[in-house]
Amino acid sequence: MERTLSLLTPSGRLTLGNLLGALRPMVAAQRDADCFYGIADLHAMTTPHDPGRLRTLVRETATLMLAAGLGDATVFTQSQVPAHAQLAYLLECTATTGELNRMIQFKEKGRGVDSTRASLYTYPALMAADILLYRPHRVPVGADQRQHVELTRDLALRFNRLYGPVFTVPELTLPAAGARVMRLDDPTRKMGKSDADAAGVVLLLDPPDVVRRKVGRAVTDSDTGPDAVRAAPGKPGVTNLLEVLAACGGSAEGLTTYGALKRAVTDAVVAVLEPLQERYAELADDPAHVTTVLEAGAARCREVTGPVLVAAQAAMGL
Ligand code: TYM
Repeated sequence: MERTLSLLTPSGRLTLGNLLGALRPMVAAQRDADCFYGIADLHAMTTPHDPGRLRTLVRETATLMLAAGLGDATVFTQSQVPAHAQLAYLLECTATTGELNRMIQFKEKGRGVDSTRASLYTYPALMAADILLYRPHRVPVGADQRQHVELTRDLALRFNRLYGPVFTVPELTLPAAGARVMRLDDPTRKMGKSDADAAGVVLLLDPPDVVRRKVGRAVTDSDTGPDAVRAAPGKPGVTNLLEVLAACGGSAEGLTTYGALKRAVTDAVVAVLEPLQERYAELADDPAHVTTVLEAGAARCREVTGPVLVAAQAAMGL
């Protein structure tokens, strides 16, 4: 059976972008693959963090992942599977500084700033380890992770060529709609967890009235007339709303005003979030269940990753 793998970083509260770009494709992949889905708590320490908040966010992220329907997968916390950090070092010895310097995320978040954590620089090697340890065929992610997955493929090919065939070279998969959800208040910027307080970021646990308010205030443009509601390069706000609508299963047919578009988007988003939030409330009442799932998941991951780590170490001469 094919394997699929993906992780989410608990650096903030999950957003509609995480759901449409990653969680929903991850749910769909469970039908015909053996899936490994993780919470990348080590990645959450690459920027200044608070230990108590990290613990809370790991819990919330795990509960949301299960509420979104990932219950058929092996769900785990990265730090509970020591091979991730161990293989990351071997991949730091495979990647080059030229490659790491080219990573857009590093350039945007910290290059040239003295207080940037060293781990933000080596982050892509840890992410490559997360992936390669499981020899997955597919890695479903949003478009912002494309460069990291491409580097992972390059590292797998280089490692196999230099030291022997240890790793599978994974395919990146992007969703047809929702691969890059933008902020509602600034459609030129990605909707991200770190801006969770912003008016333009829809959180998975936002109640319907908050969703309505945020969508209602979404930035559009000054076009009027019968064809204003359409996707186009010069219309980033409207394009984003149409993309969210499509990804949430709604239709733009017959919509001629921005007011009608926003109402349709609100209804479609609320319809997707409501069942997830109901399930979240049930699971939050049963923390022991979430703990059991994470413990069983980490145990299976330790079994699966152990031999791959040993193979990589042996190939490198350790
Ligand atoms: P993270 O936690 O930033 O995001 C988790 C997943 O959600 C996707 N995503 C989005 N998709 C569409 N629109 C958006 N606005 C949006 N924001 C986020 C991301 O593409 C991702 O799929 N480094 C990764 C976590 C990670 C990982 C891995 C992923 C660590 N190891 C191994 C895959 C495989 C990250 O920080 O994603």
